[in-house]
Amino acid sequence: MNLPDGLYDSVRKLALDRHQTVTSLMEQSLRRIVNEQTVSEAARAASASAALPDAQIPAKLLVTGGAGFIGSNFAHWLVANTDSTVTVLDKLTYAGNRESLAGLPEDRVRLVVGDICDADLVDSLVKDTDAVVHFAAESHNDNSLNDPSPFIQTNLVGTYTLLQAVRAHDKRFHHISTDEVYGDLELDDPERFHEYTPYNPSSPYSSSKAGSDLLVRAWVRSFGVRATISNCSNNYGPYQHIEKFIPRQITNILSGLRPKLYGSGENVRDWIHVDDHNSAVWTILTRGRMGETYLIGADGERNNKQVLEDILRLLGQPADAYDLVRDRPGHDLRYAIDSTKLRSELGWLPKYRSFSEGLAATIEWYKNNESWWRGAKEATEAMYAKQGQ
Ligand code: NAD
Ligand code: DAU
Repeated sequence: MNLPDGLYDSVRKLALDRHQTVTSLMEQSLRRIVNEQTVSEAARAASASAALPDAQIPAKLLVTGGAGFIGSNFAHWLVANTDSTVTVLDKLTYAGNRESLAGLPEDRVRLVVGDICDADLVDSLVKDTDAVVHFAAESHNDNSLNDPSPFIQTNLVGTYTLLQAVRAHDKRFHHISTDEVYGDLELDDPERFHEYTPYNPSSPYSSSKAGSDLLVRAWVRSFGVRATISNCSNNYGPYQHIEKFIPRQITNILSGLRPKLYGSGENVRDWIHVDDHNSAVWTILTRGRMGETYLIGADGERNNKQVLEDILRLLGQPADAYDLVRDRPGHDLRYAIDSTKLRSELGWLPKYRSFSEGLAATIEWYKNNESWWRGAKEATEAMYAKQGQ
């Protein structure tokens, strides 16, 4: 339609004015919603903490897998935030590293090198503790596709061995599990995982974790074991083995290698800082209801390409300086956690609100701690090269 020049300008100005008014109204109400959500989340947490059960603080803890990524961060977190003493039971597989516990006070943390499948050793350590926090596992999906057997042994037989010991000595047990037991979600699915999502694991790793969760539930119901379970999303932070996505890409760039993205990079993970995972574990251990499952997540959904672009930017590299490589067979598309139960029932909130800041600090850690990871780099990359990744 052709409008006379003057009329066209007036209509355009009116439309622009209206657009700006509508945009600014939308911005105002969006800001109000965000503020209200923050306020109501804090209010929910505050009212939950007013009604919290008294915390049961264990003086002596047995932490399995405490020389691995999350377990060693848990030992550091406990020393900084509690008075409890810690015995770490760890087999020191390729994924465990005693250096991850270096610097911790010897009168608070001791390392016992051993296998969670060793029933006599497990029994003697469990007897002498107040509570067990069970992190030990074979934890890497890609490895489970190459050789499932250690996953079945450690994740199933190891958990069974611990359950028999806590049952015999009536000790508190907290089982660390993963959101992967629920399978995956479509990219546009409005649903997130919650405590009643049906189990639907995809890989030998996630199915062995699902099986270990079910063992815990059965020992609670049939034998009255005092246990809780948490299922958390993807962790990032210091001391993570460089086979995993974020540290692999950081250490590739620091080694002059190109980062490797599986498939097209659209798979989504729900990232949480490891300290937030561990503060949630402590909350559940000390205040959680027996027999209950709690999902842990910090609303950190991002696809792999976005995470990689963040890493490249923070390390001063061009946004496209990476290779697309063979996809993981059976690759889960998307994980997303609804942690409402943990937040509203136990008053937990994550501290790390900015993924970019947590990621920048993690990059600094890998820059400053090359001696911690350098020894594993060549073998890790050789393993990936063999499988075209
Ligand atoms: P990790 O692979 O870094 O550490 C596992 C530790 O367990 C290692 O120190 C290893 O030596 C030890 N271990 C393995 N087999 C053992 C055995 N038979 N006996 C004793 N010790 C043994 O794993 P992680 O990433 O720290 O994961 C810890 C736990 O958290 C696992 O149960 C995993 O399923 C769960 N989880 C991990 C994530 C994540 O993003 N990394 C997220 C949710 C849940
Ligand atoms: O969700 C919790 C799970 O998170 C834990 O239970 C597992 O123990 C932990 O390893 C992690 O599993 P993922 O398979 O999600 O993590 P990973 O670091 O192996 O891979 C993250 C994503 O990045 C995944 O979509 C695969 C992709 N990826 C991975 C590597 C190693 C790449 O694109 N390139 C890579 O080089």
